[in-house]
Amino acid sequence: MHRSGNPVWELVGITKSFPGVKANDNVSLSIYPGEIHALLGANGCGKTTLIKIFSGVYHPDAGTILMGGKPVKMETPTVARSHGIATVFQEFSLVSSLTVKENIFLGRLPIRDKSRVVRWNIMRDEASRILESLEIDIDPDEEVGNLSVSGQQLVEIAKAFAADASMIILDEPTTALGTDEIANLHRLLRHMAQKGKSMLYVSHRLDEVVDLVDSVTILKDGRVVSAAEESEIDLGYIVKKMVGEEVKDYYPKVVNKTDNQLFEVCGICTANKVNDVSFSVQRGEVFGLGGVLGSGRTEIARAIFGIDSLTAGTIHLNDQPVSFRSPQDAIRAKIAFVTESRKIDGLFFNFAGPPNISIANLSAVMKRGLIQPRKEALAGLSYIDKLNISPESQTKLVGLLSGGNQQKVILSRWLFSGADVFILDEPTQGIDIGAKIALFHLVNEITAQKKGVILISSDHDELLAISDRIGIVREGRIVKIAEAKDLRHEDFVQSSVEKPLSVAVNAGAIVQGDNDRNIPRSSRY
Ligand SMILES: Nc1ncnc2c1ncn2[C@@H]1O[C@H](COP(=O)(O)OP(=O)(O)OP(=O)(O)O)[C@@H](O)[C@H]1O
Ligand SMILES: [Mg+2]
Repeated sequence: MHRSGNPVWELVGITKSFPGVKANDNVSLSIYPGEIHALLGANGCGKTTLIKIFSGVYHPDAGTILMGGKPVKMETPTVARSHGIATVFQEFSLVSSLTVKENIFLGRLPIRDKSRVVRWNIMRDEASRILESLEIDIDPDEEVGNLSVSGQQLVEIAKAFAADASMIILDEPTTALGTDEIANLHRLLRHMAQKGKSMLYVSHRLDEVVDLVDSVTILKDGRVVSAAEESEIDLGYIVKKMVGEEVKDYYPKVVNKTDNQLFEVCGICTANKVNDVSFSVQRGEVFGLGGVLGSGRTEIARAIFGIDSLTAGTIHLNDQPVSFRSPQDAIRAKIAFVTESRKIDGLFFNFAGPPNISIANLSAVMKRGLIQPRKEALAGLSYIDKLNISPESQTKLVGLLSGGNQQKVILSRWLFSGADVFILDEPTQGIDIGAKIALFHLVNEITAQKKGVILISSDHDELLAISDRIGIVREGRIVKIAEAKDLRHEDFVQSSVEKPLSVAVNAGAIVQGDNDRNIPRSSRY
């Protein structure tokens, strides 16, 4: 515990409203030197809003920010930076057309005093040094748009650390990272804390939080429901405060696997890394794909879904050979793919929740060729209910919802699509514990209907608990298939020890951003 002396930062009575919602309601918290302070709460409870106020992006309606007891007017992000604050934003703030080193030094390029010329060599060396210290094996000269989502997340983190800040704010920095990368980040955060730096840390991976942090503030509906002084750093306590009741079973699993085969891939290969992959999914089964970042799990999903064309192998659905030349073909054959970058893969930001949900199954809400708004609204409402999506998503533009609620909307779209085979790539990334459990119940519903699920997850506990069988993927191959109950954490780790991180972060990017909000070029479907 590092709570000694006086707080270095204090947020006092912060209040902020958006039309129809009080995102922060009289929120106060103190951060001490050398403290790692978690800010927790369900999707939409106001964490990102508070962070944006702290970072000078939003202005509060009321409340003050104090540094060393003195008020600071956090008018712009530049003011925040000048006070030693660096922020890893939930929505990446990278420019995809610039290189890694340029992004790391964005807004503070090293410049020669007299000539005002950029000192490229210094920038490159410094960027390399920072990446090395973070054990991130990415080329500083690589264009950010060419990196995978996890690669981009690591650059976003490197950028914050490069600023040599005394207060580092991290808004869900690990959503796209695997176990090794998370462990690296945590080592580094602890090291920084020992040097007296303070951190505010947001994550929905609660087990990771419990291991890392020194104190916890929990928000609910914009208010503090458990201040740091009273919060126990204990999973049961945190979940109870977040959800409002005790949760007994974090991974509700019903075994619905049958002996009937639904789906089979045989020796499939693609130019994008997939190498002789074979497995089958039984009716009612959850087949997990485990492995480290960049091992090729997403690439297998892309091959099945018709994004990357097969160079060898066959796919059978219901004992019939199928061939998908595009995602449209796959969707028609009742395959659904919830991608890992779903927040940016095809959400219509200028529409509310229901049209975003109905789009993959319009015929279900149409009559005589016309969309029936009532039917669409009802369909939307049923998922808002099932997945506990914020009710405002019924009418609010999806672009204005919190990150986690956006994810739930796109997940609902695919659940509504009426598919037979669901490929879920990191489906619980960024969603709160209540929604995770709701999702697992939905997976049970899917399998009870004798449909199949292919689950990709970097959360080993989740993968082991929810899958019936698991294929462990390494370098685009499945190296082992076993019953989930016969596998342990070590099996995933063992398969990853030979894996260099460089492969992980540069590999198989599904996101090819083309502006600073990372709208994908290659994967719009
Ligand atoms: N720019 C905005 N305009 C309108 N409403 C907004 C805006 N930003 C946030 N909100 C609303 O404020 C509330 C809090 O959102 P916020 O993004 O702070 O939640 P969060 O705790 O970060 O959630 P998550 O865990 O899903 O990221 C939500 O109801 C959201 O819809
Ligand atoms: Mg958020």
